[in-house]
Amino acid sequence: MSFYVDLNPKCSLKSHPVVMSKKDSATSKIAAKSSEKDPVSELVYPSKRVVQKANVKEYEAMYQRSITDREGFWADEAKKLHWYRKWDKVLDESQKPFYKWFTGGKINIIDNAIDRHLKTWRRNKIAMIWEGEPGDVKVLSYHALNREVSKFANILKSMGVKKGEIVTIYMPQIPELPIAMLACAKIGAGHSVVYGGFSVEALASRIDDAKSRVLITADGGFRRGKPTDLKGIANDAMDRSPTIEVCITVKRTGEECMMQTDRDYWYHDLMSLPIASPDCETEKTDAEDLLFILYTSGTTGRPKGLVHTHGGYSLYTSTTHRYVFDIKDEDRWWCAADPGWITGHSYLVYGPLINGATIMLYEGAPNHPYPNRWWSMIEKYGITILYTSPTAIRGLMRFGDQWPKRHDLSSLRLLGSVGEPINPEAWRWYHEVIGGGHCPIMDTWWQTETGGFMITPLPITPLKPGSATRPFFGNEMAVVDDNGKEVKPGEEGKLVIKSPWPGMARTIYGDPDRFVETYWKEYEKQGWYKAGDSARMDEDGYFWIIGRIDDVIKVSGYRLGTAEIESALVSHPSVAEAAAIALPHELKGNAIHTYVILRAGVVASKELEEELRSHVASELGPIAKPEAVDFTDALPKTRSGKIMRRVLKARALGQDVGDISTLEE
Ligand code: WT7
Repeated sequence: MSFYVDLNPKCSLKSHPVVMSKKDSATSKIAAKSSEKDPVSELVYPSKRVVQKANVKEYEAMYQRSITDREGFWADEAKKLHWYRKWDKVLDESQKPFYKWFTGGKINIIDNAIDRHLKTWRRNKIAMIWEGEPGDVKVLSYHALNREVSKFANILKSMGVKKGEIVTIYMPQIPELPIAMLACAKIGAGHSVVYGGFSVEALASRIDDAKSRVLITADGGFRRGKPTDLKGIANDAMDRSPTIEVCITVKRTGEECMMQTDRDYWYHDLMSLPIASPDCETEKTDAEDLLFILYTSGTTGRPKGLVHTHGGYSLYTSTTHRYVFDIKDEDRWWCAADPGWITGHSYLVYGPLINGATIMLYEGAPNHPYPNRWWSMIEKYGITILYTSPTAIRGLMRFGDQWPKRHDLSSLRLLGSVGEPINPEAWRWYHEVIGGGHCPIMDTWWQTETGGFMITPLPITPLKPGSATRPFFGNEMAVVDDNGKEVKPGEEGKLVIKSPWPGMARTIYGDPDRFVETYWKEYEKQGWYKAGDSARMDEDGYFWIIGRIDDVIKVSGYRLGTAEIESALVSHPSVAEAAAIALPHELKGNAIHTYVILRAGVVASKELEEELRSHVASELGPIAKPEAVDFTDALPKTRSGKIMRRVLKARALGQDVGDISTLEE
């Protein structure tokens, strides 16, 4: 179990063998202390044990093959899934950028994530271990999961849910959340999961956009020892969006809540009806049939529902999960993301279940009742792989080493990170204190739009703390300037994806023009996808993500649009105009700072600042609560009236405001 950290700044990847063993972890401890050195030149090699176990033993040749014969590569991987009918064509590029994959093929993600396991020994394998915040536990085998999913699928059918319609799901992290998602997919209905931490306006606008007829929710969940009031928010949202006819509510907290006759049903009541039979046939969907939409923040306030499909998404999530996290039948996989985000969709629910893994789901806060909650669960359940965000790591690191040190974390063999760049200090802590110095960290770069990992190491990849390393198989990525010319190694530029991949979002729900405009317009000539991130690539071809270059803010790894925050502020009667920017924050990565012009006659005060912060939290959700509200008389704008957030940010950071020739005055 050795680990080697190379301190030679001149070392190049090419001159090193992949495995460097016979160095003890003391070496890496010393390396961890000298944090001044250039992180770009630091290489961390996997131990022999990791390499021996790895599903992929060699990156280069396999990557080359996946590029020179992309369709052949994906066709071979696709054979590992079950298809009702084989595809006619792997990749259809005739309507770029509306790429299609595996056209003519018939496949349902549930057939792969559940049905096929029932015919093997995995029938009795644990599919899901769930722990509630108060400490209650539920364990479901694949057989039991199938029963719950089939029963609920029959309920949905009895409510008239049809193939192609979108069911909105707004729930805490309880087993019924993945069950509801899987039940929709089973009958060919699309789901739209709205993160349970969002609030009224965010939920209402998403229900509206999807024109959902059915909403699935819960009375609440437990967070830091207290019940949340999900049904109350759902009720308010339903008042604003008239399309909902049926609302199904899971009883979780037992708190009192308002149920409306003829609209509201309790989940447990429905599940005990004879109609909730455990026999339900899985719909034989087409590869390109809609599986789900997931809303994400963009540059305007309007919600942007990215569309993913049964075929390509099943293939991409399962392949990336299997290779990157080296998944084995004996693994206990814990993706500590909320199922309400793409990470939860791809790597808590679908990818791992397709791979027949045992997944872990936890309801509550990582530090409740004490900061050892996660570590105690890793020990208790023997978790072998943990996948989480830099924000969570930084947050837990803050409590000190004594909390993880009280637990036996030796079951861990791999770690993962996602959502934002991981700073070297957090990387080292995660690696040393949680991973015992012997678990490689898979820093995975991807987006809601990409469906799965795009830039990521494999367990055999020599790592550089803070870099997501190199593209996954099949993907050609580059860092370019505004004209599409590749910048020199080490220089900052825009991150683009040059080639199609099976997990790519197919469109924006109900708005194909916006899909083209947002992602494909800028590099139309080249046919490249614009990621919206700035990045660098170093001499070794390793990618270093810097951050968003559009009006998206990453707060604690969550994605929020400046426009959403601004419109929440403007919806308050005192506010005339507002601007939101991101400023660096030690724990959250970024924090939201806002500037507000008050309506005539309204007087600025500390109380009003507090009120506005709370107003944003109650409209959008606690994660969107601004760190500060500054009252101002004017905002820097271009002549066309666009707020120059860049100027606000530079001023707040005491930096040069740069070129302001387009400024109005
Ligand atoms: C944005 C996408 C992908 C699941 C969670 C986020 C940032 C994501 C990394 C990483 C640096 C990262 C990017 C990206 N991001 N992963 N490993 N290193 N930055 O999905 O909410 O759609 O956000 O998250 O800025 O564009 P998302």
